[in-house]
Amino acid sequence: MSPTPSPLPPTTGAPSSSTTGSATTRNPDPRAPTTAPTAAHAGAAPGADDGVVDDPHPGPALTDDRPHVPTGRSEHSGRPVSVPLETLRKHTVVFAGSGSGKTVLLRRLIEECALHGVSSIVLDPNNDLARLGDAWPQPPSGWGPGDADRAKDYLAGTEVVVWTPRKERGRPLVLRPLPAFADVLDDDEELELAVEAAVAGLLPRVKLTAAKAAIGTAVLKQALGYFAQGGGTELDDFVAMLAALPEGVRGLENIPTARKLAAQMSENLAAAMLVDPLFGGAGAPLDPGVLLTPSDGHRARVSVISFTGLPADAQRQTFVNQLQMALFAWIKKNPAGDRPLGGLLVMDEAQDFAPSGAATACTESTLQLSAQARKYGLGLMFATQAPKGLHNRIPGNATTQFFGLLNSGVQIGAATELARRKGGRVDDIARLGSGTFYAASEGVGFEKVRMPMCLSHHPSSALTQEEVLRRARGEEG
Ligand SMILES: Nc1ncnc2c1ncn2[C@@H]1O[C@H](COP(=O)(O)OP(=O)(O)OP(=O)(O)O)[C@@H](O)[C@H]1O
Ligand SMILES: [Mg+2]
Repeated sequence: MSPTPSPLPPTTGAPSSSTTGSATTRNPDPRAPTTAPTAAHAGAAPGADDGVVDDPHPGPALTDDRPHVPTGRSEHSGRPVSVPLETLRKHTVVFAGSGSGKTVLLRRLIEECALHGVSSIVLDPNNDLARLGDAWPQPPSGWGPGDADRAKDYLAGTEVVVWTPRKERGRPLVLRPLPAFADVLDDDEELELAVEAAVAGLLPRVKLTAAKAAIGTAVLKQALGYFAQGGGTELDDFVAMLAALPEGVRGLENIPTARKLAAQMSENLAAAMLVDPLFGGAGAPLDPGVLLTPSDGHRARVSVISFTGLPADAQRQTFVNQLQMALFAWIKKNPAGDRPLGGLLVMDEAQDFAPSGAATACTESTLQLSAQARKYGLGLMFATQAPKGLHNRIPGNATTQFFGLLNSGVQIGAATELARRKGGRVDDIARLGSGTFYAASEGVGFEKVRMPMCLSHHPSSALTQEEVLRRARGEEG
């Protein structure tokens, strides 16, 4: 850590104008919280264990009117720190290992965004995020003053919906395997990107052998481009087209096996549609507009996507690819406009989806989103316990970064390098306590912060599958 760390934009510590409170009351968004400002982050003095003591040295007042998301309290100055909500458009990444408080941090950021009327799609690979709609039975020790009221406000205003792809006993979702090509037909570059992302999603299901992979991928890409340009949208139609490849598909003249390969890929896709409930089963069609739009009476929706019905990595990756393609198409049609942040996509265990090694079915769409979603106001939030295992374009595209406790030497080495690129040092990263992070964001150096506990119930054990399914059905947790 640099000797004179420059803090993230400091927030006022005065209870009557705490960060989120003041931001909240100034927020022109009609879906923004309407309760009185609270003292949520006016809490602990430096070094305080539980973050519940009033701050004797409140920081300077906010210098701008923008809504902010609190990111804890500086260990150096004791002041509350925060990032402007709109900075989250430029993405966030959390590097932190087991027991670091990573889940608590992610949850609190999601909750604070919801208090600002920002809805989220939250991927839940570990069954520990499906409790985002659960109340604490008693106030936890890590809450600051006012957090009990904020928790009430969050729970009353936020509609938490747990989705369970491939689990019909919960709240299933079915995929639309092809993106809305019609939305990008007028832009060659975007059409090409959409075709590439769709190809990546279909590849695991067309079952090419290693020897045929390069030719098959080329055939699939050319065929899909032709299909998209002809106005095609439905997978059934594409499967039928592949079965008898039309003459018009360009570039395949010198590939004599193209037609045979296309027919084989068509058969494998048809089989996948029969056996995979994600492709052909019952459930709500995956629609980002539904995932991100609260119903009347709520200010935000938090859509938790449980992977309990998708045990294999490949299934998860294929699902995430489809989701990301649909989300990209949707946000382009529904950009945030004047709102500071149009929505959030939260990806825990990001190293399993966009790894630094061989590409997965969703690497391409993840990188595409991380390069382009900001234009439309969609924020991405990645978390990983394996910084070395994460594709380097993800931290490269994330303005806000958190570094928490890490234990493995290899991961510490990777985090140290990533921190250096952000202008900071994380020498004591192997000794950080749970809930303590180094935070870095736009235009500032490194700040060691202590995060408050999340507003929704977070006991130490993850949910069982049955408990997730009960929440998905809207039954009492
Ligand atoms: N900000 C915090 N304030 C108070 N306690 C916290 C905070 N963050 C974490 N803790 C404590 O540490 C425990 C572990 O936190 P959390 O579940 O977020 O860890 P994790 O990094 O997600 O670990 P895991 O690998 O087990 O998923 C929590 O149950 C809680 O008791
Ligand atoms: Mg966790």
